[in-house]
Amino acid sequence: MKLNRYAVTAAFEDYVSGYNAADPKIRLKIDHTTRVAGLCDRIAEATGAADVDLAWLCGMLHDIGRFEQVRRYGTFVDAVSVDHAALGADLLFKEGLLNRFAPDDLTPSDRALLEAAIRNHSRYRIDAGLSESEMACCHILRDADKIDIFRVNCDTPLEDIYNVTTEALRVSPVSEAVKDCFRNRTAVLRSLKQYPADYVVAHLCLVFELVYPVSRTIAREQGYVERMLGFQSDNEATKAWFSHMRERIWEQ
Ligand SMILES: [Fe+2]
Repeated sequence: MKLNRYAVTAAFEDYVSGYNAADPKIRLKIDHTTRVAGLCDRIAEATGAADVDLAWLCGMLHDIGRFEQVRRYGTFVDAVSVDHAALGADLLFKEGLLNRFAPDDLTPSDRALLEAAIRNHSRYRIDAGLSESEMACCHILRDADKIDIFRVNCDTPLEDIYNVTTEALRVSPVSEAVKDCFRNRTAVLRSLKQYPADYVVAHLCLVFELVYPVSRTIAREQGYVERMLGFQSDNEATKAWFSHMRERIWEQ
């Protein structure tokens, strides 16, 4: 496809100007969006799994629902508000918001790929029954999103991300069920997380869900995973667990 990225970027800036960029929650999502778009471009280019412009557009629009979510509910927690991926996809594909970003650049098949990727980007598991090209767009976007989550975990105080006190973080144990996910090299279901440090381990377990080798390479070279593994704890068992993870996380 031939996409006018300049026009998409201008439309995105215009869209988000309707929200309060002084609100750190909004700022976070604006920065996240542009970084994820860049990562999608890089993964698509390296793998050849999808059109690079379309992959970049998936990144630019994947979290568009976040802005309405925080305006309507004041939170990014889907469980207590709305599924932000579904909200974004509904706004784009049912209510015509997509036309504001890429009016002339998209074929019906591009639109289908974009919608599949956006609807599935935050699910625990991707919908069954997608086509190979839909799967590729989903995988690229999900990998890019996960890679940037590592950065957000380092650039934003953990107290703010997880809504807990410093004290609670420092004394936190790690649940056995969450440790088992790490041992089994799998993502952590939301319902398994009990303690503040469980959330950090769960985010680290996203490494195991990266689909493309280049995504692992990028995640590793960015260094945020290592920084997350330097989690400061006063709990001896948690300290030992983090040093165990440091040794094992990149094993194949
Ligand atoms: Fe998202």
